[in-house]
Amino acid sequence: MVALSIIRFFAIFFVVNLINDYCMIIRTSEAKDHIGQQVTIQGWMYNKRGSGKIWFLQLRDGYGFMQGVAVGGSASDEAMKTAEKLTIESSVKVTGQITQHPKQKDVFELQVKDIEIVQLCKDEYPIGKKEHGPDFLLDNRHLWLRSLKQWAIQRVRNTIINATYEYFNANGFIKIDAPILTPNACEGTTELFEIDYFDEGKAYLSQSGQLYIEAAIMSFGRVFDFGPVFRAEKSKTRRHLTEFWMMDAEMAFCNYDCNLKIQEELVTFIVEKVLGRNLNELKILERNIEPLQKIRPPFIRKTHADVVKELREMGSDIQPTHDLGGDDETLLTKKYDKPIFVEKYPSEVKAFYMKRDPQDSTRVLNADLLAPEGYGEIIGGSQREDDIELLLKRIRDHKLDPKVFDWYLDLRRFGSVPHSGFGYGLERLVAWICGLEHVRETIPFPRMISRLKP
Ligand code: 4AD
Ligand code: MG
Repeated sequence: MVALSIIRFFAIFFVVNLINDYCMIIRTSEAKDHIGQQVTIQGWMYNKRGSGKIWFLQLRDGYGFMQGVAVGGSASDEAMKTAEKLTIESSVKVTGQITQHPKQKDVFELQVKDIEIVQLCKDEYPIGKKEHGPDFLLDNRHLWLRSLKQWAIQRVRNTIINATYEYFNANGFIKIDAPILTPNACEGTTELFEIDYFDEGKAYLSQSGQLYIEAAIMSFGRVFDFGPVFRAEKSKTRRHLTEFWMMDAEMAFCNYDCNLKIQEELVTFIVEKVLGRNLNELKILERNIEPLQKIRPPFIRKTHADVVKELREMGSDIQPTHDLGGDDETLLTKKYDKPIFVEKYPSEVKAFYMKRDPQDSTRVLNADLLAPEGYGEIIGGSQREDDIELLLKRIRDHKLDPKVFDWYLDLRRFGSVPHSGFGYGLERLVAWICGLEHVRETIPFPRMISRLKP
C-alpha cells in the first residue's frame, strides 16, 4: 500500500513537472535563468523579417524584448505557417528553447517550436518602419507607448518616482496628499484653470500642493506630496505641459541652505538609482551616461545677478530684473556639466510666499535648480516668509485677495517657524536624465495647449 502511494506520488510529480516544463511561461527578463530550457513567452510581435524557411520574430512581453528564431525542421510545420501569416503587433504565445546569443553577452534568443496566436491583427499597424512626424506619433500615443524608446522612457520615469519615495522614506518625511481642487492660486494667477464649483463660485486646478504641505509640516515636520498639477500657461516650448506631475517637499525648521542640501542629496540619489537600475534603458535611448556619473554634491551656486552678467556676456539681452527665459537657461546650462542653483531672484519675478533676503530686500531667498547639458530648470524652491505682517504685505503687493489666504495666514498666527521647501517637475527630470529633446515624450499621455487627445 505504502509502496503504491509512493509510486503514485512520484508519477504525479513527474507528469506535473513535464507539463510545467513544456509550457513554463517566463518573462523575457528572466531568460538568463532558463538557458537550454523550453519555455513560453507571451506578448506581442513587434517586427518580423525572413522568408519561408526562416523567420526572425521580434517579440516583446512588457518586461523586455527578445528575438524568436523559427527555422523549418526545428519549428513545427504549423509554427512555420503561423510565423508566415503573423502581422505586426499581433498578440502571441511563443514556445521554444532559450539560447544565448553567440556574440552578445546578456542577449538571449528563443528557438521557436510552437506559436499560438492570441489575436491576429487584420489591419495594418499604423506605426511602421518609416519616419513619422511628432504630431502623427502623438495622435497615436496609445500605440506609440509600445515602441522601444517609449518603453525605456517610462521605465526610467518609474525609477525616478520610486527613488523619490525611497529617499523621503529614509529621511523622516511622510507623504501628504494635497488637494487638486483649490479655492486660490499657488503660483501666477494668469496660469489657472478655472471651473464652476456648485454654490461656492470658482474653483481652480492646483498649480502646486505647496501651500497645503506648508500646513502639514506644522503637524509632521517634514512632508512631501506627489501628484498632477495644472498650468494654463500659453507656453508652446519643449519644456511646458499644461498637466504635469510635481513633487513638492517642505521642511519645518529648515533654512535656505538646508533646503539646497536636501535638493542636492535627492537629485544625486535619483540619478544613482537610475544608473543602477536602468543602464539597459539608457542604452536604448542612446544616452551618454558620463555626465550623469558626475552628478555629486555640491552643485554649482550662482546668484541671479551674476548669472545675468554671465548671460549678457554670452549674448543674451536679459535685464537685471528679469526672470531667466528658456533660451537663457539653455545657453547657461550648456556650459556646465553639473546642476546649477541660480539664487536670489528679484522679488518681483517670484511668488508672494518667498522670504526676502535679509542682505538685500529687493531679492528673495529662493533658488531654481537648473539641470546641465542645456536642460534648464527642474526645481523651484525657497525659504518661506514666516512673519504674518510681511506675508500679508506680499499678498497685497501681488494684488491677491487676503481673504482667500486666511487659512494660510493662520499658519503664521499659530506656531510659525522658519521653513523651506521645493518642487520638482517630474517630466523635466525625466527629459534630462533620458537625454530627450522635449517633455512630451516623458509623460504617458501629454497635455499641451493644442493637445487633449488621446
Ligand atoms: O517653479 P515652480 O512653478 O514652483 C512651484 O510651483 C513651487 N510651488 C514649488 C515648491 O516650492 N514647492 O514649479 C516647480 C517645477 C519647475 O521647476 C519645473 O520643473 C516644473 O515644476 N514645471 C513644469 N513642468 C512642465 N510643464 C510646465 N508648464 C511646468 N511649470 C513648472
Ligand atoms: Mg519655477
